[in-house]
Parts: sequence; structure tokens; C-alpha cells
Amino acid sequence: MTYASTERPTPITVQTLRKMKIDGEKFITVALYDAPMATMAQRTGVEVVLVGDSLGMTVLGFDSTIPVTMEQMIYHVEAVARGNKKSLIIGDLPFMTYATPEQALQSATRVMQAGAHMVKIEGGAWLAETVSMLADRGIPVCAHLGLTPQSLHKLGGFRVQGRDDEQAGRIIDDAALLDEAGADLLVLECVPSGLAKRITDSVSMPTIGIGAGRETDAQVLVINDILGLTERPPKFSKNFLREAEDIPGALRKYAEDVKNGIFPDDNHTFG
Ligand code: KIV
Repeated sequence: MTYASTERPTPITVQTLRKMKIDGEKFITVALYDAPMATMAQRTGVEVVLVGDSLGMTVLGFDSTIPVTMEQMIYHVEAVARGNKKSLIIGDLPFMTYATPEQALQSATRVMQAGAHMVKIEGGAWLAETVSMLADRGIPVCAHLGLTPQSLHKLGGFRVQGRDDEQAGRIIDDAALLDEAGADLLVLECVPSGLAKRITDSVSMPTIGIGAGRETDAQVLVINDILGLTERPPKFSKNFLREAEDIPGALRKYAEDVKNGIFPDDNHTFG
């Protein structure tokens, strides 16, 4: 049996996603790590696939994303790229592989050559120069604000960010700077829904929420959470396999509920 996709459909691009934002059409993102899931995502019509460094926890058994290496990221990006010829594929740059713009360029080159169409980096204003440098060289960037798991120890745990005015103001300013620097997408993780809406309304790049309410331009969930494989799932995630007959059905249900504005509901949102 082969999982390598032989289909050659029209690929989703950065321009497709910008148009969806302008048209008010939500798009679907799934964080996944292997070829069969990538093929299933393509068949379900998932617009964006994220090969997240969450694979450190979901696949490799680490407690955080910090131990994930470039070699591990490349291995999984290559597998996902073999399995999916339509979705836009984002590859995370792992911990401390983009501490300077020059290092980011080298790391992004490797992840792009493995098959990603965009790289994701975590952080705010300090990354504006890096985003601009990568954008000028033709490398699309997905920024990531709010709960940034690679900064786990600085943040003091996996906590909701932007609850007070000072933190919220910083996230708003960071989003504006990264937008201006040329970022193409923005993941907002674990922030109050009102803050996510304010940022979504003020930036030109599409926003992808996870634990950020339903007002973002898109949603992302980790495949393990969608399929109920997580022992202690976060409040914002949902096991869609409970409402489906099989794995493709769970993915379809997630996609439909996001497109129809049913997910996330208030139970899966931080107010
Ligand atoms: O690594 C990852 O999967 C992520 C998502 C949870 C946004 O960054």
C-alpha cells in the first residue's frame, strides 16, 4: 500500500488564503506529522497543514517542543509533503534555530527544501527583521503569538496570554509589526477571544486561532486532539471522533464545524 499522493490538484497558496480572509470564508488548518494523515487532510479539503514542532509531544514523547531537532522536523515535513499535493504546508522552525536572521535563513532554507511552502516562527517584535529578511528572499512566514510553547519556561507554563491590558497591548503591537514586516499568516494561541478578534480585524494577514475563539480567519487543531489521542486534552480542543464513525469522518466534522462557525463554541474558548 502506498500513501504517496498521486493526485495533482490546484495547490492552495498564500494568495488563496488572503482572498478567503477578504471574502470572510474560514479556512481549516490541521497540525499533523505523517503521509497518511496528510493525504486524508487533502481529501477532506483541509487548506493548510502544519507540521508543528508539537510532534515532540504528540509523536516523540517529550514534555515540550524544546528538544525537537531540525532533523526531526525535516523527516516529518518530507513525509507530509509526499502525502499531500494540495494543502499549503507550513513547517515549524525548531527551538533556537532562528535566534538571528542569518540562522533563520539557513534553517528556513532546509525546511523549505524538505517540502514546506512556509515556515513558522514563534515571537513578537524581535522577529520583525527576520520576517522581513525571509520575505524579501521569497520565503513565506507564519508568525506565532500568544502562548508560544518554545518559551514555556519564560512564560511559566502553558498559560493563557493577553488577559491583562499590558500583555494584550504588547500582542497587538507585535501583530502589527509582524504584519508590516511581511508575515503571511499569524497563529494566535491561547488568547482571549476579544483580543483575537481585535487583531484579526486590524491585520492584513489571515489569522489562525487555537484556543483564541471563533473570530479568527481560520482554526488549527492538533490531529491527536481531533482523534481523542491526548490523555489530558487542553480546554480548547475537541475529540471529533466521538461524533463520527471513523477518522476521515472526524476530520470532516472538524472542518464542517469550523466552516459553519460551530467550533469553537464558548466551552472551547477563553473569554
Ligand atoms: O506545533 C504546533 O503544532 C503548533 C500549533 C499547535 C499551532 O504550533
